[in-house]
Amino acid sequence: MTPAPVTVRVPAKVNVQLVVGGLRHDGFHDLANVFLAVGLFDEVTATPADRLRISASGPDAHQVPLDETNLAARAALALAARHGIEPRVHLHIGKDIPVAGGMAGGSADGAAALVACDALWGTGATRGELLAICADLGSDVPFSLVGGAALGRGRGELLEPVEVSGSFHWVFALADGGLSTPAVYRECDRLREASGSGHTAADLPEPQPSPQLLAALRTGDPAALAGALANDLQAAAVSLRPALADTLRAGTEGGALAALVSGSGPTCAFLAKDPESAESVAEALLTSGTCRTVRVTSGPVPGATVVHG
Ligand code: C5P
Repeated sequence: MTPAPVTVRVPAKVNVQLVVGGLRHDGFHDLANVFLAVGLFDEVTATPADRLRISASGPDAHQVPLDETNLAARAALALAARHGIEPRVHLHIGKDIPVAGGMAGGSADGAAALVACDALWGTGATRGELLAICADLGSDVPFSLVGGAALGRGRGELLEPVEVSGSFHWVFALADGGLSTPAVYRECDRLREASGSGHTAADLPEPQPSPQLLAALRTGDPAALAGALANDLQAAAVSLRPALADTLRAGTEGGALAALVSGSGPTCAFLAKDPESAESVAEALLTSGTCRTVRVTSGPVPGATVVHG
């Protein structure tokens, strides 16, 4: 009997604190990366097929790679190889997370495809095995699997749980076009070198999460969280895309408690006091003309979850 399709829903993330340490010998940077999963979702549906195929739908679907560079394809290939089976699956990506936007959209699809293929093929991978495959796929992929809130150490893949009370309200301003994550890290290194601080792991202290930020998450206090939001990649993203400074300003002038670039950008994230305030920040951003569109949502939300199958 042909197995029924499996659909997995997976969230985007925002980094509420992204402390970037020095460049390591392997080309990555050590991080203290506090992730929060937020309610923008992709859905990946796995259906039996004669061979591995990828398709995508949604307004930005034309930007989604349909070859084996797609993390969803790489996830299916990795799981199949480990279990000695053929990756005979069609993965359809319902894309709602901005592409190359600094919200881990590609990573989300990798985690979702892995969970979907595991259910479709009955491979019965343990949570530990799934997390190990995720870490091989990319630094942000393990977090897409677990969702909620977590501190990522190492290059971001070594997760520790973070306690959160209640829900935080966010507005995301989407930009035209994406930013390349490696290019933003390179620009961060270049700016550090130019400022004389050095940029290698030998020059810089080991990154640490802020106790104030963790306390703000634990107590669910948006004003305290606003005061502690920080992203070491922000200066680099703004250096590569100076117009982001206008977007950030438009959101704070529009009533946001705080604004920051999401991950490596170019999406900008705005923390709001409550859902009503989030709506008025979104309106202000739209009328400012400094972004392509806006999305209003909240987090934390769960990680990759089977919704069908
Ligand atoms: O792990 P991932 O494939 O998402 O990383 C993409 C690129 O981002 C890396 O090749 C590297 O240039 C940069 N990166 C980094 N340090 C990290 C994570 C990513 O320099 N901790």
